[in-house]
Amino acid sequence: MVHNIGELVTNVAGTGEGGPLGIRRRAAVLVEQGEVVWVGPTGDAPAADRRIDAEGAAVLPGFVDSHAHLVFAGDRAAEFAARMAGQPYTGGGIRTTVGATRAASDDELRATVRRLHAEALRQGTTTIEIKSGYGLTVADEARSLRIAAEVSGETTFLGAHVVPAEYADRPDEYVGLVCGPMLAAAAPYARWIDVFCERGAFDADHARAILACGQAMGLGVRVHANQLGPGPGVQLGVELDAASVDHCTHLTDADIEALASTAVDTPAGPQTTTVATLLPGAEFSTRSPYPDARRLLDAGVTVALATDCNPGSSYTSSMPFCIALAVREMGMTPAEAVWAATAGGARALRRDDIGVLRPGARADLIILDAPSHLHLAYRPGVPLIRHVLHNGVPR
Ligand code: NIG
Ligand code: FE
Repeated sequence: MVHNIGELVTNVAGTGEGGPLGIRRRAAVLVEQGEVVWVGPTGDAPAADRRIDAEGAAVLPGFVDSHAHLVFAGDRAAEFAARMAGQPYTGGGIRTTVGATRAASDDELRATVRRLHAEALRQGTTTIEIKSGYGLTVADEARSLRIAAEVSGETTFLGAHVVPAEYADRPDEYVGLVCGPMLAAAAPYARWIDVFCERGAFDADHARAILACGQAMGLGVRVHANQLGPGPGVQLGVELDAASVDHCTHLTDADIEALASTAVDTPAGPQTTTVATLLPGAEFSTRSPYPDARRLLDAGVTVALATDCNPGSSYTSSMPFCIALAVREMGMTPAEAVWAATAGGARALRRDDIGVLRPGARADLIILDAPSHLHLAYRPGVPLIRHVLHNGVPR
């Protein structure tokens, strides 16, 4: 039982105040066997074996980081320094990480995944999606996903991250490899398939072919889309009923209309079935213009925030950092950003048991060192996560 909560963000729309955040004051949450079983006024709280006193602080659902690349070796700090001295980001450094990842042992990769997973958890992330994409051989993609699956059920096959150097002049052959033996070896460990659909990576025809193969194997679709320039990725994602199109930095009106056209009614109000997942850590770290979240929200598109944690374009595991960037740089209100980092991430993973605090939800919650969710953006860079419960277990 967590009691004496000053501000409880439930993300159950229509509860208390705060619109979609469903804020309750002076609340308590009862947890049994990893699930929320009761939410109500702290004075009415039923008896419980173990009580955690929130001392009037804010409590939120754990963050849902729906986009991260944790399986890699090495870092690219020098590439970051070069960018901050004026070099552009092209994605070309992905191949550097591919080389380091292939050369690493399973235990080295496992240690990195576990270190970053623990780092994220300390910062309040209780669900994290993990992509492969730095192996790009049948064996290296399969082991990347096997290791990712040891810490998360949300794993994504990204064999189509870039065409590896050894296939540079045979991209069609590489697409055949991804759709055939690589997908077959990866699929047992993956829930999702993703493609980097961008100039210099995969064009619309290749991306469509790869995503369709993944769908035929039962994987859900996500797309890296419109990061470095306008392109076909967002509309391809809508065409294939992607759960999420990610980055969305360069959008046309037609892209936004396509996303908005996927709106459906839900208990939380109208939401789009294809979510726009924005990754402000990438714009921060590549010194690029931020995506315009306001334009998406005003068009009725559901927005999620995620870290994109990877050694090249966004080496942060911090959802609070992304919330602060989204508020300051992308036109989001603090409430919209907090919703996008919790319930929005859950929608991007097509989950209704996380990102929300109501009976039946997973008991993933964070107690802040602050009286309100507003402080996540108001006090940037300050470690405000006092306590994390994951599956009801204090971490
Ligand atoms: O989401 N854009 C493609 N993939 C990653 C970056 C990978 C890298 O630079 O290593 C991203 O930003
Ligand atoms: Fe990414």
